Amino acid sequence: MKINDLFIKSPLAPLCQRGVFTKTMDLKVNIGKLKLKNPVMTASGTFAYGKEYSEFVDLNKLGAIVVKGISLKPMKGNPGPRICETPCGMLNAIGLQNVGLKGFLKQQLPYLKKLRTKIIVNVLGNSIDEYIELAGDLESAGVDAVELNVSCPNVKKGGILFGTEPGLFRELIRNVRLKTSVPLITKLSPNVTDVRIFAKIAEDEGSDAVSLINTISGMSIDIRTRRPRLANITGGLSGPAIRPVAVRMVWECHKTVRIPIIGIGGIISAEDAVEFFLAGASAVAVGTGNFINPRATMDILEGIRSFMSSEGIASISELTGAVRC
Ligand SMILES: Cc1cc2nc3c(=O)[nH]c(=O)nc-3n(C[C@H](O)[C@H](O)[C@H](O)COP(=O)(O)O)c2cc1C
Repeated sequence: MKINDLFIKSPLAPLCQRGVFTKTMDLKVNIGKLKLKNPVMTASGTFAYGKEYSEFVDLNKLGAIVVKGISLKPMKGNPGPRICETPCGMLNAIGLQNVGLKGFLKQQLPYLKKLRTKIIVNVLGNSIDEYIELAGDLESAGVDAVELNVSCPNVKKGGILFGTEPGLFRELIRNVRLKTSVPLITKLSPNVTDVRIFAKIAEDEGSDAVSLINTISGMSIDIRTRRPRLANITGGLSGPAIRPVAVRMVWECHKTVRIPIIGIGGIISAEDAVEFFLAGASAVAVGTGNFINPRATMDILEGIRSFMSSEGIASISELTGAVRC
């Protein structure tokens, strides 16, 4: 049964249709110090710098925009092919292409700051100092929050990924927290044995929230050419194929930490978003869903409203962690 069918059949439907319920419904969520008007955000790297989607989406209606990962210097990314479709998902190896910090502050941020939504900047560095510099400069520039993309190699430590080695992960968050006071969201990698260890470290070291999951490492081979479908050989899997993994990880983290969780992974409908709330997310971010339907965020927001009406839910926070296990 679809959300809309529920809406029509619910005894609350007449109330909802007159807008009685929708007016009093509370979609506001707090992600640490960050106050969002609703829980629907965009996932980094799938919504460009926001402006590109303005033709399809009323950007002011979003809970927050999370922009493409920004590094200190501009990055060209990997050579193509950089994406390929897989069952219920896609693999990407974009290679963190971006305009760099200066380019972002000059060309993108002025537009974003005029919007009536929160602006969160995903950052990526190859050393702890780079992350500190990025977070500090973005804080001074007035962004609402910084999301740490920890799926980057530390060049000083022989290329170990920040997000998969607990000691390095702790050192990174501790140092960024000490040097900046911008709301900090740590984006967790699913490519670890126990994601709870990383969520707990993020909380202990002062992260205001965690977002999860980033893409799952994968590979696809064309059997006729016997070549990998991506020039980079491996890439990150995203889309509905990864949703059950993401929901499980959100549920595990919700039982482990008290900081808010932003659920990410294969969300393409309001039903998917509700599943993440029930598992323990306070907000959700839509990624690959934007490629399937550029208006996905708006449709999901409307669908969440309809669901709340039909279920008689006054505040979105009632759903967080409400799974009956
Ligand atoms: C093309 C593409 C680019 C991405 N770029 C970034 C990025 O720059 N930084 C980041 O933290 N995550 C990045 N991601 C990961 C997404 O933000 C998201 O965590 C992941 O795709 C899972 O969500 P989804 O299944 O809804 O896409 C990217 C994903 C895709 C598909």
